[in-house]
Amino acid sequence: MQNHKRPPSSLIFIFGGSGDLNLRKLTPALYNLFLDDWMPEQFGIVGIGRTGYTDDKYRKHLLDGIKKFSRRKGEENGNWQDFAKHVSYLQMDAEDEAAYQQISAIVKKKEAAFGEHPNVIFYLAVAPQLVPDIAAKLGPLNICADTKCTRIVIEKPFGHDLQSARELNHLLSTMFDEDQIFRIDHYLGKETVQNILALRFANALFEPIWNRNYIENVQITAAETVGAESRGAYYEKSGALRDMVQNHMLQLMCMVAMEAPVSFDANEIRNKKVDVLNAIRKIDHAEVQDFAARGQYAEGWMKGEKIAGYRQEKNVNPESNVETFAAVKFYIDNWRWQDVPFYVRTGKRMHNKSTIITLQFRPAPSFAFPPEAANTWRPNRLTISIQPEMDIRIRFQAKRPGQDMTLSPVDMIFNYDEAYDEHEPEAYETLLLDVMEGNATLFMRVDQVEAAWKIIMPILETWQNRRPVDFPNYAPDSWGPEDAEALIARDGFNWVTLPLLNGE
Ligand code: BG6
Repeated sequence: MQNHKRPPSSLIFIFGGSGDLNLRKLTPALYNLFLDDWMPEQFGIVGIGRTGYTDDKYRKHLLDGIKKFSRRKGEENGNWQDFAKHVSYLQMDAEDEAAYQQISAIVKKKEAAFGEHPNVIFYLAVAPQLVPDIAAKLGPLNICADTKCTRIVIEKPFGHDLQSARELNHLLSTMFDEDQIFRIDHYLGKETVQNILALRFANALFEPIWNRNYIENVQITAAETVGAESRGAYYEKSGALRDMVQNHMLQLMCMVAMEAPVSFDANEIRNKKVDVLNAIRKIDHAEVQDFAARGQYAEGWMKGEKIAGYRQEKNVNPESNVETFAAVKFYIDNWRWQDVPFYVRTGKRMHNKSTIITLQFRPAPSFAFPPEAANTWRPNRLTISIQPEMDIRIRFQAKRPGQDMTLSPVDMIFNYDEAYDEHEPEAYETLLLDVMEGNATLFMRVDQVEAAWKIIMPILETWQNRRPVDFPNYAPDSWGPEDAEALIARDGFNWVTLPLLNGE
């Protein structure tokens, strides 16, 4: 039985209601919240789109999506009908200003039915170029002046570069208070990402060594096996740097590098994170080749299957120079992290799907063991696996059983599935619940977005102006281009990859 407080009555309008994100992520998340008793007592969900659906056809379409994409795959759990009663569809051309009056009318009707004014949430699950126009048409509606109850949720990419992000922020600020704007970075909703705060700040063990005195380098890898899929048109305008590094990867870096918050207040946490972004050393245009490497996947083979190269994907220019892989070395100029390199890499069509964060510790200050004991010595490491494996492992040296003093590295592992019976919610469940509750901790504030763009602009500009001469430069099912290996090898390190390669 439910023993938690549900959010207040909420009415959620989903622009892009007939689109992919809603089908795969949003509706399954809302339905899971419903099954877990987290939806408000009174709620309504209105899908908005151009496709002609009756309410019934729309609900059927959503149920198909749930069966395919929900973490509770294929299950209705007998409650679908109860949930579906709350769902309706509004066929509307989002470019038609007059049509927005229908939204006001729906709010009035629901208000009467609920007997109270609900939270009104506008979720813009639409192509990025449509966001400014929809926001500009929503803004003048009376309900948007209600800064307490009305919220707007915006998906990444938030702008295309620093300039466009500033313009979008400015436009939004003329119509909404910052507290009403929820900019999504779905990585922040992941359980394992939130657990970084618990690991660091709920334990006395780690914080004393979580700094430049003990840590030699930090690595963050987000490797995917998928390619551009059906998103060639989007990806051509994006590339790995915009798609993953500017947002997800920098946010992971903030979680690892931030100072301890004094409270869990949304602004306090976000202040601490933005401090990290502001302390990241600026990479000059002339230094980009020493700090960043890019790649694009060629055609080849993956697990016995023939794979098209990026340039052969649908809606991709056959001579495209867009990067599907990016690796960057960052420094954070502050007392805690001065001169500790943070290596970040992400790529499509890589050998494994795996997002991991590794903190590699400095060697023991003195090594008294006989030289042969050291042959298998490896540095201490703390590895946080974000996905698909969800675990935290600490590597240390142990004496191998036997008469010789031989050392070998061993792992101490905390694994979510073994430790807990509960199924972890998907990121979108957490984030949608937070929007209904008005908790902005896991959402990007205006200054965070702009600071993140500032960091990557020199790399973006340099890559744009300097055509890559070797694209495509990595095979599918690999760990990316040679340049990325060289980027880290120059400093005497190598990338940590899970499962660990021999001897690593
Ligand atoms: C999205 C990117 O933000 O994140 C995609 O646009 C990428 O290109 C995806 O595939 C990765 O998310 P996850 O949760 O599967 O790691």
